[in-house]
Amino acid sequence: MIDELLSLIKRHERWRGRECVNLIPSENVMSPAVRSLLSSDLGHRYTSREKFYMGTRFIDETEQYGEELAKNLFGSETADLRPLSGHIADLTFLACFTNPEDTVLCVSPDDGGYPGFWEKGLSRLLKLRMIRFPFSKENMNIKVEETTDLILRKKPKVVIFGASIILFPHPLRALAKATHNIGAHVGYDGSHVLGLIAGGEFQDPLREGSQALFGSTHKTFFGPQGGIILADKEHGEIVKKRIHPEFVDNAHWNRIAALTLALAEMKSYGKEYAGQVVRNAQTLAKALAEDGFPVACPQLGYTRSHQVLLNYGGYKEGGVIARKLERANIIVDSGVRLGVCEATRRGMKGEEMQRIALFIKRMVIDDEDPNSVKGDVMKFVKEFQEIEYCFK
Ligand SMILES: Cc1ncc(COP(=O)(O)O)c(C=O)c1O
Repeated sequence: MIDELLSLIKRHERWRGRECVNLIPSENVMSPAVRSLLSSDLGHRYTSREKFYMGTRFIDETEQYGEELAKNLFGSETADLRPLSGHIADLTFLACFTNPEDTVLCVSPDDGGYPGFWEKGLSRLLKLRMIRFPFSKENMNIKVEETTDLILRKKPKVVIFGASIILFPHPLRALAKATHNIGAHVGYDGSHVLGLIAGGEFQDPLREGSQALFGSTHKTFFGPQGGIILADKEHGEIVKKRIHPEFVDNAHWNRIAALTLALAEMKSYGKEYAGQVVRNAQTLAKALAEDGFPVACPQLGYTRSHQVLLNYGGYKEGGVIARKLERANIIVDSGVRLGVCEATRRGMKGEEMQRIALFIKRMVIDDEDPNSVKGDVMKFVKEFQEIEYCFK
């Protein structure tokens, strides 16, 4: 039994860690140093603000150190590293600034919005009325004029920018006046683009009109799986008063130690990393478009984020492509959103993006034998086993 379990994990590590090209945009890889902190003694411990538990002096300092680093990196007045995931960060923000029956405006899942906000997720839990941003599928972005009208008419209590499919910065600045005029709380779910925001390569929500920036710490941000909330003083203090014990009890201090080191890596290498991520996504998009793939938004240069969207018109068709690619060790979702954060972290640049596009073409368009493509993919990834943009 134990041998079987250990063997499963070993096989997974070898396959996903060393033999595949991972193009899932919600995933990344931690540096060896960050990863090692996950197995530190902090993972066994509890702390509490009321000093119920003794023995927490180094953990308390680690948390403070992490919060200071986060505030400095994102230019926020407050930072909270305790949310256990992006979803819990979303829940905490929404619960702090809404009451049942309030209206919340965000991107619909039909347009690439995070489904976790909608009927089956947080809106049901918190009894919120969700309304969708008017959205242009052609430009994969929020429509400014129609949204301004909608905000004036519906007066949402909370407006949330950010999405799961996000190719371009959202027009936050253009909508800030309308949202502030009606006194709405404005948040930005940066789960996908947090690392690009940290590196100064996407948009700067906290300067463009958002009062809080929150989400996952493991997509373009290359920390451990978890969440974060960065906010102005007013919103941050409310979050801090409620997050414990309503949304998090033990915050998993090994995760926070690892996140703190990832924040430090981002401070040192974020600009270089985020710039390369965006360049890589653009190179991959262009190469795929030239091969005849239905890449979204050619008129806008395809992407300004880590994502490239292949318009296959839904998960059914997308799933066929995704399963086909998996046979050649190319891992994508059924979206089909391709993400280049992990490939970039492994040191891949423009030339490698061209090679990846060619592997995808050989599988999807040329219908080559999967084993032959897989063999070439495995040889290719062997050259990229080191993690870059981190402390060595
Ligand atoms: C925009 C967005 N917000 C929140 C989440 C949830 O993040 P987590 O998986 O960290 O809970 C996701 C998940 O992919 C997401 O895409």
